[in-house]
Amino acid sequence: MILEYEGYQFMGAVSGQDGLAAIQRERPDAVLLDIKMPGMDGMEVLRKLHALDESLPIIMISGHGSTATTVEAIKSGAVDYFEKPLSTERVIVTLRNVLKQSELSAENRDLKLAMESRYEIVGQSPALRGVLESVQRASPTNATVLLLGESGVGKELVARTIHRNSPRAGQRFVQVNCAAIPEELIESELFGHEKGSFTGATEKQVGKFEQADRGTIFLDEVGDMSQKTQAKVLRVLQEQEVERLGSARTIKVDVRVIAATNKNLEEAIERGEFRDDLYFRLNVIPIVVPPLRERRDDIPRLVQHFAKRTAEEHNLKPKRFESAALDALSRYRWRGNIRELRNTVERLMIMTPTDSVRAEDLPADIRNSESSPVRMPMPAAAATAPENAAANAVPKSDGQQPAGAGTLREFKDAAERAYLVQKLRENNWNISKTAEIIDTPRSNLYKKLEQYGIKQEVDG
Ligand SMILES: Nc1ncnc2c1ncn2[C@@H]1O[C@H](COP(=O)(O)OP(=O)(O)OP(=O)(O)O)[C@@H](O)[C@H]1O
Ligand SMILES: [Mg+2]
Repeated sequence: MILEYEGYQFMGAVSGQDGLAAIQRERPDAVLLDIKMPGMDGMEVLRKLHALDESLPIIMISGHGSTATTVEAIKSGAVDYFEKPLSTERVIVTLRNVLKQSELSAENRDLKLAMESRYEIVGQSPALRGVLESVQRASPTNATVLLLGESGVGKELVARTIHRNSPRAGQRFVQVNCAAIPEELIESELFGHEKGSFTGATEKQVGKFEQADRGTIFLDEVGDMSQKTQAKVLRVLQEQEVERLGSARTIKVDVRVIAATNKNLEEAIERGEFRDDLYFRLNVIPIVVPPLRERRDDIPRLVQHFAKRTAEEHNLKPKRFESAALDALSRYRWRGNIRELRNTVERLMIMTPTDSVRAEDLPADIRNSESSPVRMPMPAAAATAPENAAANAVPKSDGQQPAGAGTLREFKDAAERAYLVQKLRENNWNISKTAEIIDTPRSNLYKKLEQYGIKQEVDG
């Protein structure tokens, strides 16, 4: 009567067994449980309930003065207890607090789940499953992992997943973006410095390697380190110790290294830009994260995942992606890989006014992407050496053909390819600018780059 008067819905049970059954059926927000009952007594019901659902708040009702029992009840998972005779005031206040508390814990759990979903690696394609298997093997060890793959494929996500599944999960995951730190600062970032060790060093700084002690250091864009930094990093990996700038003292560190790059390090070694001894140190467990276009089967699932996340993050109503839209999204090239897909889904969720996203709602270049990218037979010279092709492919007055161009079609392709490479170079590989200058839509230029397998040349 007290509870109903307070606006709660109440249901009673006459025995322990009845209570257990009713609770599983009705899923109440809280349980008031007497101890002395016929058949199964309150303590036993308490243990059973607690085993079934730890989060269900249970308040015991004990006979006057039975302290030992109440202590035992709390130990077995009860959140509070009432002594007989019940005081109206105490029942109401206690119940209100208990419910408030359990609501907070539920919110907490939801937040945790949302956090987890940020780190979830979505996809079941064979290509991704291969990656996940390697992750599983590498995680429990201390072995150095080298993550390779294009921009936006999920290298950082994989690095974090390895750390979270490793024995070091309770320790820090320290990320260093080697490409983003100016050359003159990177050493002090990585190894730290003593106060006054160089102009501007007004305070002592603990380096990233020291910060990551007993945890994991993630050397992102490792292909962008200077020779000098490479030499120092190599030393840390070999000796497992660092020296702060301006200090002769060596500090022992215990770090697990995960490195990532979208560069081809073997080519960088050949060009003399990357030390091979550092490469061998890093390349203990290489994991290649494949581009999205090699795991298109995952796209619909990724779209749902990002749509759900965007809806939660921006308080939007969920939207359905119609199958024609999913098809078009699955066909598209995704040069920016999963990051580009995520941004596209986010934009569609925010900008599409209707409850479902149709193919017509997609940007034109995605809507119009061809069903399977047709690869043109590539004249041998053009495929391997754009420089030569550029020279060769210009139709010559003496009637000589570009190397390997047997048919008119192949000749035209080789010439077009050479022209595009030339123009891109003139415009520093700026796609928008090049497209404007040669007067073709940007999407068309992208299509051509894809068709001819033209990749930006790396400087140097
Ligand atoms: N399989 C996946 N499932 C869900 N989200 C993913 C997946 N792969 C990548 N993402 C998400 O895509 C985005 C890009 O991934 P990430 O930053 O890890 O890529 P990256 O390879 O490090 O890119 P870059 O080389 O540009 O730094 C992130 O938001 C990441 O959470
Ligand atoms: Mg990254």
